Amino acid sequence: MQEKYIDENKQGEAYAIAEKEGNTKKLFLESYGCQMNFSDSEIVASILNEQGYNTTLKVEEADLILLNTCSIREKAEQTVRNRLSSFHHLKKSKPNLTVGVLGCMAERLKTKFLEEEHLVDLVVGPDAYRDLPNLLKETEGGRDAINVILSKDETYADINPVRLGGNGVTAFVTITRGCDNMCTFCVVPFTRGRERSRDPHSIINECKELWENGYKEITLLGQNVDSYLWYGGGPKKDFAKATEMQKLTAVHFAQLLEMVAKAVPEMRIRFATSNPQDMSLDVFRMMAKYPNICRYVHLPVQSGSDNMLKAMNRQHTRQEYLDLIKEAKNIVPDIAFSQDMIVGFCGETEEDHQDTLSLMREVEYDYGYMFAYSERPGTPAHKKMEDDIPADVKQRRLSEVIALQGELSRKRMASYVGKTHEILIEGTSKKNENQWKGRNSQNAVCVFDKQEGQKVGDLVNVFVYDNTQGTLIGRVEEKY
Ligand code: SAH
Ligand code: F3S
Repeated sequence: MQEKYIDENKQGEAYAIAEKEGNTKKLFLESYGCQMNFSDSEIVASILNEQGYNTTLKVEEADLILLNTCSIREKAEQTVRNRLSSFHHLKKSKPNLTVGVLGCMAERLKTKFLEEEHLVDLVVGPDAYRDLPNLLKETEGGRDAINVILSKDETYADINPVRLGGNGVTAFVTITRGCDNMCTFCVVPFTRGRERSRDPHSIINECKELWENGYKEITLLGQNVDSYLWYGGGPKKDFAKATEMQKLTAVHFAQLLEMVAKAVPEMRIRFATSNPQDMSLDVFRMMAKYPNICRYVHLPVQSGSDNMLKAMNRQHTRQEYLDLIKEAKNIVPDIAFSQDMIVGFCGETEEDHQDTLSLMREVEYDYGYMFAYSERPGTPAHKKMEDDIPADVKQRRLSEVIALQGELSRKRMASYVGKTHEILIEGTSKKNENQWKGRNSQNAVCVFDKQEGQKVGDLVNVFVYDNTQGTLIGRVEEKY
């Protein structure tokens, strides 16, 4: 299965080394939650590389421990709390060790962290990473330090991220930050602030540089990429105040996709995440026009019931969503979709739940990321609605949704069998060191026997002859 979200039970993976000659201090940096956090950690590592820190994978040798945290569900926060307490003994034996919390939990819990969790010396929100050098100076003086100010225009456009822990082939490129959508269940608009888009030129430059450095696939990242709008001004919500010239020359997401597709014509391009309400058909048209834009869209719907969609403040109906999928399939017949689903949202009836199952059957998603609703303090749902579905009902509905997605994934994977797919080699298969693993354009994972002369980063034609629920099994046809 795809690792879009990191398993909340797993610890955030400590990242590979970012080294700069002459640096003497050691940073242990762990990320939790969505891809955006992983991408942000690369910005943080870059900033701290300039401040004398190289990263380490050994927590015992760290001078600075930073956890880039996630608030999306209660479980995610609990994982981070447990991780923080595991540093207790280190902190005792190493008085100069600094422990910091970055990201969404920093934003949500603010000073509470410093007051209640005495293990933390530093709290930095997602828009304040440039301030890290100053904040660290404060902690060196023995004081606690905090900056959780959210910005209207910070995009870290000029900071060249240090690529951490990757395979040297696939990379994230952040294009928007924050979210203005206010889905009632979601904490992101509160922890990541207003939506703003990054200058397209800095995006293009980053993509070109990645290509020059051997990268073969990029994922354009944002909470809601389809809402991308660059007009040379600040947040998207101020677009109405833009000058005529700014309005005329504004760049929308489909245009940005085209610019990137042309700038790095052999680079595979993916993007995440899309919100159906902001998705324009032009995006699918670009996909049809440029073969290097992958035929895959992660298009969360959250529920198949109109009542729930309304309660969640999703700005579309079930039918509108299904129409969008239909149109997309018309424009790009070999397109694949994945979903995010929330079960057990406030007031969800058995009928609503059945609507979710029937919508899934209709769309036939390749994969899914499914969650039981977890109430988040401060969100509109927490303020105005009742989290009234019993835990056992949520769990049962979740199992049903997961079981159905399993069936659908197996069916979709089977539909790729008997055909040749272009696979980008990303690394050695975890299960068999004599096999490569990679993905096709539709994002399906494929494993196949290694052949001499092949290396990570190669695009190979693989004939798929079998499948499991989440993996295609193939053999190489020819190399090119
Ligand atoms: N646009 C974002 C979505 C962020 S949240 C992105 O880039 O992925 C990721 C998913 O977590 C959501 O699509 C939703 O399915 C789930 N989620 C968000 N808030 C939740 C909550 N309070 N309880 C359970 N799941 C939630
Ligand atoms: Fe959250 Fe909805 Fe934005 S799920 S990130 S508020 S699109």
